[in-house]
Amino acid sequence: MRRIKTGVKRGMAWCLIAMMLSGCQNKDALQDPKSIRIGVTVYDQYDTFISQLITCFSADLSAKEKETGTVIHIEVYNAADSQTTQNSQVEEMLENGCDVICVNLVDRTDPTTIIDLAEKQNIPLIFFNRELVEEDLERWNRLYYVGAKAFESGVMQGEIAAEIFQSDPSVDKNQDGIFQYVVLEGEAGHQDAIVRTEYAVSTLVEQQVLVEKLGYGIANWNRAQAQTKMTQMLDQHGKEIELVLANNDDMALGAVDALKALQIPREDWPVIMGIDGTDVGLEAVANKELAGTVYNDKEGQALAMLNLAYQLATGGELSDLALEDEKYIRLPYAKVESEDVERYQNREKL
Ligand code: BGC
Repeated sequence: MRRIKTGVKRGMAWCLIAMMLSGCQNKDALQDPKSIRIGVTVYDQYDTFISQLITCFSADLSAKEKETGTVIHIEVYNAADSQTTQNSQVEEMLENGCDVICVNLVDRTDPTTIIDLAEKQNIPLIFFNRELVEEDLERWNRLYYVGAKAFESGVMQGEIAAEIFQSDPSVDKNQDGIFQYVVLEGEAGHQDAIVRTEYAVSTLVEQQVLVEKLGYGIANWNRAQAQTKMTQMLDQHGKEIELVLANNDDMALGAVDALKALQIPREDWPVIMGIDGTDVGLEAVANKELAGTVYNDKEGQALAMLNLAYQLATGGELSDLALEDEKYIRLPYAKVESEDVERYQNREKL
């Protein structure tokens, strides 16, 4: 099991084991023209959204195998937040004979080593979710990106918040006509964190909502860190906070955890907004702990990535895949409020 360098625990472990049993390291498979090998490395397997995206990707494999009559071997690595580890994982996947490698970069500004390694062996790379800058993606013609239209999630979050402010006067707790808000931000430097905050606020303003920023905390997409930051902001601003704009559902849930831990009565809670529509996020929208979320289409992204990986590994046509600028696939987001939750909870069945 030398390939899983960082130790794989529950959650993703079952699918890794299943994939290995399906013959990741089976030498005979390499001689079988009807088999391909896809390598995947994620920045952190414990990230809620990423682990659900990989579960979707794995779940799509058998349908793709049936559809194409090809055996698809995959190997998934956890880079555990280290770019150096991820670079070695890519090296190892190349040695293992992967036909295509999907990379969820740890440091989106540092793809050079990985690109150079892959280019040397002429193995295409699909970056996903953590977008590298355009100049890096331009460095070689076998580099691709699968993700979402980042700005859209901010716009939609801002639209839901504006609609709530304009239709429910009780959310303006001090009745001053201004929506006092705090932001829980994802990783500094991540394209989604930067763009979501910017567009959520500018959309509120465009929708004629007067806003006032009380504070922000960088919580790195993480629920526990968000709870800590939210506790600090509640300490400082207490009931003045009327709106929490969280860059993802896990951080929105961290805000919920903080309010619960401080035993703040539900009627005094601010409006809390997430992004992602993870299982836990959707559940919290259903029970109205979150006022809404924005669906980050993990099923769509996983399937697009698999289809692209398959075509690249088999030398197939890319024309049906609707690539933007011959390199990008970006899936749209969608607004989710309590009445929409069920539809999204059954998303995979649609
Ligand atoms: C998701 C976050 C996730 C991050 C990881 C974002 O698109 O919304 O939940 O933590 O990607 O890169």
